[in-house]
Order: sequence, then C-alpha cells, then structure tokens
Amino acid sequence: MAVATNPLRAGLGAVRRAEPATLVIFGAGGDLTRRKLFPALYNLSADGLLPPNLSVVGFSRGGQDDDAFRRDMRRAMGQFSRRTPDPDLMERMLARTGFIGADFDDPSAYRQLAERLDRIEKEAGAGKNRLFYLATPPFAYPVIAKRLGEAGLNTPPAGGHFARLVVEKPFGRDLDSAVSLNRDLHQVFDENQIFRLDHYLGKETVQNILVFRFANGIFEPLWNRQYVDHVQITVAEAIGLEGRGGYYDRAGAIRDMMQNHLMQLLSLVAMEPPVSFDGNAVRDEKVKVLRAIHPFTPDQVASDVVRAQYAAGVVDGQPVRGYLEEPDVAADTATETFVAAKLSVDNWRWGDVPFYLRTGKRLAKRVSEIAIQFRRVPHRFFQALDMPEIEPNVLAIRIQPDEGISLKFGTKVPGPAVRIRGVHMDFQYGTAFEGASPEAYERLLLDCLTGDATLFARVDEVESAWKLINPILDEWTEDRVRPALYEAGSWGPEAAMALLERDHRRWRRL
Ligand code: BG6
Repeated sequence: MAVATNPLRAGLGAVRRAEPATLVIFGAGGDLTRRKLFPALYNLSADGLLPPNLSVVGFSRGGQDDDAFRRDMRRAMGQFSRRTPDPDLMERMLARTGFIGADFDDPSAYRQLAERLDRIEKEAGAGKNRLFYLATPPFAYPVIAKRLGEAGLNTPPAGGHFARLVVEKPFGRDLDSAVSLNRDLHQVFDENQIFRLDHYLGKETVQNILVFRFANGIFEPLWNRQYVDHVQITVAEAIGLEGRGGYYDRAGAIRDMMQNHLMQLLSLVAMEPPVSFDGNAVRDEKVKVLRAIHPFTPDQVASDVVRAQYAAGVVDGQPVRGYLEEPDVAADTATETFVAAKLSVDNWRWGDVPFYLRTGKRLAKRVSEIAIQFRRVPHRFFQALDMPEIEPNVLAIRIQPDEGISLKFGTKVPGPAVRIRGVHMDFQYGTAFEGASPEAYERLLLDCLTGDATLFARVDEVESAWKLINPILDEWTEDRVRPALYEAGSWGPEAAMALLERDHRRWRRL
C-alpha cells in the first residue's frame, strides 16, 4: 500500500495517499454528509488518493439501515459530486459503507461501534486507523467525545495506528463556551488528534495565499506598512438562510463567518513567513497575527464595527423577503446578517495599516476577495497636467467565484496626450489550469487521513479569535445595539460605507 511520506518534507507538491482507515461519520443523516463528505470521498477515490479498503460507517439517529444509507449516499454522489460518478467505483465504495442508527448518548451504541470496527478491520485486512468525523450539531460534540473515550476508541490502537477526531465549526459561541468545548475534547483526545475544520482553509485560492506570498520574491518586499495603504477582505453572499434560520438566528454573521472564515483569511494575509511549512510552524505565525490585533474597546465597537440586517429587496432579479420574515427567526430579533469591521494589527509590519473586513448575506452578489491596496505615488506630478487623481495599485486575490489574482496599475492611454487609466494584469485559474479544482472537503478529508493538520484550526487559534470577537458580543448582548438595515441585493448598510469614507477610502466595487 502506498503510504504517504511526510508531505511537508516532500514539499507542498507531493501527492499523498491516505492509509487504510475507517471513517466514522456522526450525524451521517445530515446535509454535510450528503452534499460534501460523500462527494469528496468519491472524487478522492476517483483520483486514486484513497486506499481501496477505506471503509465508512455512518452513525446517526433515525431508523435507517445499511441499505437505506447506501441508497441515500448513491443519490448524493450522483447529485453533488463535481464529476459524474462511475457506477463501478461508486458500488465498490458503497460495498464498504455501513450504518449504525443510534442515539449519540447511548453507551451501548459505542460498544457496537467498537465491535463493528474490529470486524471491518479484520475483513478489510487493513490497519486499525480510525477517523471520527463529527458532522452533528455542536451540542453533541462533548457527549460523542466522552462516549468514544468510554468505549476506548480515543486511544490510537497499538502498532502505530491513529484515532483522530474531526470537528466542524462553530467551535463554541463565545470565548467561554469555546474554552469549555476544548476542555471537554481534551479530556478525551490529545490536541494532535483533533482536527478543527474550517472549510475556507481547504479552498485552492486560500491555500494559494501562502504560495503566492512565499514562493514569489517580488511581492513580499512590498507586503508591509511602507507600501500597503490598507487591506480589504470581503466575503459577500447572495444567498439567504437556505432553511437554516434556527441555527443562523442564534449565530449571526459574526459567529457564522467573521470569527472563523474571515479571521483565517486575515491571518494568512498578515502572517510572517513561517520557519517551515510544518503544521505547527504555520499555525504559530497565524496565532501571532490574532494576538497582535488590537482588542476592541466598547467605544471602538461603537465606532469601528457595523452590525446590520437585511430588509426585503431584490436579489438576482427576484424579490426576496427581509430577515425578520424568514422562517425560524425570532420575532424582532437583533441578529445581524452583515458585519463590517476595521481592525488594526499592531506589529512591526502592519502598524497603522487598517484592515477592513465585511461579510453578509443577501448582498448584491456572491464574491469573496482580498484586496491589498498600495500607497499612492509620493510625487503627483501627473496632477500638474490637470489629470484626475491616479488610482492606486491594487492586488486583488479573488477567492471565489472566477478564482484568480489581478494587479491593477496605471497605463498611458495611447494617443498624443498623457492620459492615464487603470488596467489589470490578470491570472485566472479557469484559463491557466485545465479541469475543475478539487473541492475544499477533498483536500481537508485527505489531510485528516494523512495526518497533516496545517489547514486546521489549533486550539489557541480558535481561542485567540474568540478573544477578539468577545468584546463585540459583549456590547451587542441583550440586543443593546440594534442592527442597521440594508436592502437585500445591495452592498450593505450606509454605515459600512461610512466606515471607510471617514478614512477617505472606499470599498472596492465588486
Ligand atoms: C458556512 C456558513 O460556514 O460558510 C454559511 O455557515 C455560509 O452560512 C458558508 O453560507 C459559505 O461558504 P462558501 O464556501 O459557499 O463561501
């Protein structure tokens, strides 16, 4: 069996194959398993990255049996895989897929699971590697971890095998609950067994931030306060709640997106070069960024953080209702569907460079971008020619869609006079590379199976991010700060525009 070499020593380009293992998915009846996990497993198998004897056990409440679960997953792969599935490969995968229908809190189900794992491992002639994936609502995480521990499933089986736990965000709902969740997990699993999954880190364009910065000599010398005027990070969504009103109304944009995905993007853009691409070396640098961000005082929450909620409007030509009319949302709720913030990273590299972040639902379109805006030229002698202000250089990293990177610079418009216009140097994934990029979950599942934690949130990363968000939550408690309103299909509330305008800047038009 082709076993992975250390991918980091082998270099980022190394192709890694997973070792034989059994993946146990808790909450296997849910959407994540159907939409993301099984399609990802299929594509990894099709790319030859999974061993033929990788087995899957779905674990969920509900009255399914092996056959019903297989039927469901067959349909899911057909519907959500990025490639049309090959029926033979799919059937081979499903032949190694089973299901346990039980309550997460039922100790006997975990004894049953342990027996089942022993049987599967004997039959498959495979090692005893076990990956426990928590695709459940977060309240179930502690009890599942506890029951796994009681059944002895947390201890890596002898012979160099692994037992790992994958946890999906949200990792808590504030600092205290995150600390308490981490404590519960650490009672059963060591930190190096825990993989906290933030799917943004698996996106090709997000992984490329480090490659772009540290595999090219020409950008890094400019990547600091001497040359950068400010940074904008936008994660805009056109979709609304998609049937998740119950969850979303308790989370809001700050917990759902800002604490995790946007903080991850910010850390990758602002971090220092790591000493190596070892998982801990990279994460050490990311944590330093979070620690360098100036914590918000109550006054700064009022002046530098914008909270808003969408009102009815038109998105993609379709009228849509306002947030308060959405199903499963509390009457008169103050939950925000948009948040914008101005942050400062107080360190040698970034002193005085503002980072502006914004994210929201029901915005004008789906687009995520990181823009590094450079300082203007020091001597504006073209202005003497009576020309409009020359636009500054901008490096835009397009996370999605139309993935790519573009650099904007001024160029002389051909003709007898000196006229300057901003043009773009463009790199687009779609034209530079053939074939669709792998989905984030493909990369991340493979990394859990090969044991590479670089793209997963470490305990101190999660807690540092919560430390930054907590003062905002404190100010917003008991709905003391009512959200501003913005029309669905717009770019957010006036207050978000004002946040930049008062600094004589503006959000990029996307
Ligand atoms: C999830 C959030 O983490 O990310 C969702 O819970 C959001 O509310 C989603 O829609 C966005 O992910 P992507 O990959 O579509 O940008």
